[in-house]
Amino acid sequence: MPDRRTFIRKTALAAGSSLLAASVGQKAAAVVPQHEGHLILSTWSFGMKANAKAMEMLQAGSRLLDAVEEGVKVVEADPSMTSVGLSGFPDRDGNVTLDACIMDEEGKAGSVTFLQYIEHPVSVARLVMEKTPHVMLSGKGALRFALDNGFRMKKGLSPQARQAWEEWKKKTGYVPRPSADNHDTIGLIARSAQGKLAGACTTSGVAFKMYGRVGDSPIIGAGLYVDPLVGAATATGVGEYVMRICGAHTIVELMRQGVPPQQACVEALKRIVQRHQSLEGVQVGFLALHRSGSYGAYALRPGFQYALSLGNNHALHDAPAMFAEEKK
Ligand code: GLY
Repeated sequence: MPDRRTFIRKTALAAGSSLLAASVGQKAAAVVPQHEGHLILSTWSFGMKANAKAMEMLQAGSRLLDAVEEGVKVVEADPSMTSVGLSGFPDRDGNVTLDACIMDEEGKAGSVTFLQYIEHPVSVARLVMEKTPHVMLSGKGALRFALDNGFRMKKGLSPQARQAWEEWKKKTGYVPRPSADNHDTIGLIARSAQGKLAGACTTSGVAFKMYGRVGDSPIIGAGLYVDPLVGAATATGVGEYVMRICGAHTIVELMRQGVPPQQACVEALKRIVQRHQSLEGVQVGFLALHRSGSYGAYALRPGFQYALSLGNNHALHDAPAMFAEEKK
């Protein structure tokens, strides 16, 4: 007799074609349509303010890449955030280390990982893309590059983050444990009314991670991918699971083969399910945007929300989930 986990895995896989299709059809009817104007899709409720900023800029005639960057910067600068920017929770040794990447309308990419003391890692990632022959800079090298380009150092570890870290140490005994509730990245992908695509992804990573840990968010093809000829995708959730399947790139490649955006997210999630014996406590959410203006969202578990902006219409949606049937 199958145990509960095997049952859930098998159910989820089988659901990929039948049961899920039904639930996609029902719950996601509102997210499948195509939109011709400016369209911005981003992760979680804090995506609403990122979208608002990006849309305001697009409507004022800004370049798409500028709108995407300035949108996620709103979240990076928010002192109430505990999972993005310098106010994010630290690693298990008390260091706030940031990961970010950006891709432009031509599919060019820039990224920084393990960056400390800089308020806007996404802007450093953009400079890596525009001013260096490289795609990714990391740690002290990324910091030196930022300082050489006029960025200023700022202290991380807010009083709120320090308190959470102190409590975590008492509770867990220094054992890092990525879980469904400690890793809310902002991933933002956008399409202009002219049909151009760009995206950005930025995070302080999994709370109380090991020193040196880098997640999916700054990895081109994992946390973010933009192909101007096909579409864009971004991810949130426990990065290790996204990285193992190159989540965002997988979704874009599926769309290249004609799979609609929402189903492409489902297929990528099915790969995660297939590879892991247990996904207990793991959340992963994907957003996908086709260059035609069709879009979709899907998550492993209920609870993943995304912000959708279609012109002046901004709304927060619950993404449909693969394990919707799981009670625990
Ligand atoms: N998705 C964010 C992280 O795992 O770092």
